[in-house]
Amino acid sequence: MKIRWGVIGCGGIADRRTLPGMMLADNAELIAVMDANKEAADRCKEKYGAKYAFDNIEELLAIDEIQAVYIASPVFAHKDQAFAAAKAKKDILIEKPVGITAKEAEEIADFCESQGVKLGVGFMMRFHAYHQKMKEIVQSGQIGEIVSARAQLTCWYPEMENCWRQDIKLSGGGAMMDMGVHCVDLIRYITGLEAKAAAGFCGNQIFKYSVEDAGGVLMQLENGAVAYVDANFNIPDAAAKCKIEFYGTKGSIFAQGTIGQVEGGEIEVLCADSSAGYDANQDRNEIQTMDVQVEFGNMYTKEIEAFGRAVAGEGEVPITAADAIASQKVIEAAYESSKNHKYEML
Ligand SMILES: NC(=O)c1ccc[n+]([C@@H]2O[C@H](COP(=O)([O-])OP(=O)(O)OC[C@H]3O[C@@H](n4cnc5c(N)ncnc54)[C@H](O)[C@@H]3O)[C@@H](O)[C@H]2O)c1
Repeated sequence: MKIRWGVIGCGGIADRRTLPGMMLADNAELIAVMDANKEAADRCKEKYGAKYAFDNIEELLAIDEIQAVYIASPVFAHKDQAFAAAKAKKDILIEKPVGITAKEAEEIADFCESQGVKLGVGFMMRFHAYHQKMKEIVQSGQIGEIVSARAQLTCWYPEMENCWRQDIKLSGGGAMMDMGVHCVDLIRYITGLEAKAAAGFCGNQIFKYSVEDAGGVLMQLENGAVAYVDANFNIPDAAAKCKIEFYGTKGSIFAQGTIGQVEGGEIEVLCADSSAGYDANQDRNEIQTMDVQVEFGNMYTKEIEAFGRAVAGEGEVPITAADAIASQKVIEAAYESSKNHKYEML
């Protein structure tokens, strides 16, 4: 069964990744596209073979055959559009972060529930074959109990005119809310552990827009492990490897280049025998490398197919609003900690 889609917001992510991904999905049909800029909507209509292009959401939502909408507008527009789509009884796949604040995201989730529509969130990196493999390895106990984790996502994002992402009122946050949130989500997803406390530093070192150009958050996970996420808008794209690492009592996972918009990267899994007791020589050569084989695909295609199956009643919503809100709350905790100096000054 093909799910008939409407797309709201035809800019960067929709045109660059999600619409091309949707074209490859085995259960999706694109019906209509909408963008505040009609030229962008017209361009996507031609490019992806939609039947209709609009510059307002009402006309798109009035189309009966549309079952699900993908909301990829700037964050400040998410709430009104999600409410309108839920009232029109369309199931909704919404881009991260769901709302300007976690509280707004909760309002959106509650309203969708009250209207009986499904709400899924675009944390597509969960569909990366290596991230799914990491989850399998961690959950099966092959690297023992998780004691430490770390994830990083960066880009080069200089000041630009009329850029909603650089305006705190329109985006809700900068490097951490935009990119760090993916890292927090991956650590929660792969370990299956929730964060129970967080402290962060967020600020502007290089670029002076109203959102932070860099930040870091230290989380204590529910089993006591410490996890660290860092996100920067001020490192040249090619200069960061976007690493993700997990350490356990029996081994570790190192990956680089897996956090991003294209499925790829490298992974190394090390398994050690921790039953031997203390070794004063701290020998680091007694280690085995696990052979890890995966098949890469298109994360956006998998995201559209999985949400489509949920719409068809053939599966669960893959990434729920509750999940997204938990990750957003970690970022907000980092902002609060940083703003209120909830740390020791040296
Ligand atoms: N999951 C990912 O990989 C990923 C990557 C990038 C962005 N995103 C998310 O996707 C969303 C959009 O980001 P982007 O980078 O594509 O932004 P963008 O600025 O590149 O594109 C936004 C588009 O929305 C249009 N627009 C503006 N106001 C609108 C409105 N009220 N209604 C409809 N369209 C409107 C703009 O004309 C533009 O075409 C954000 O939530 C962002 O965080 C997700």
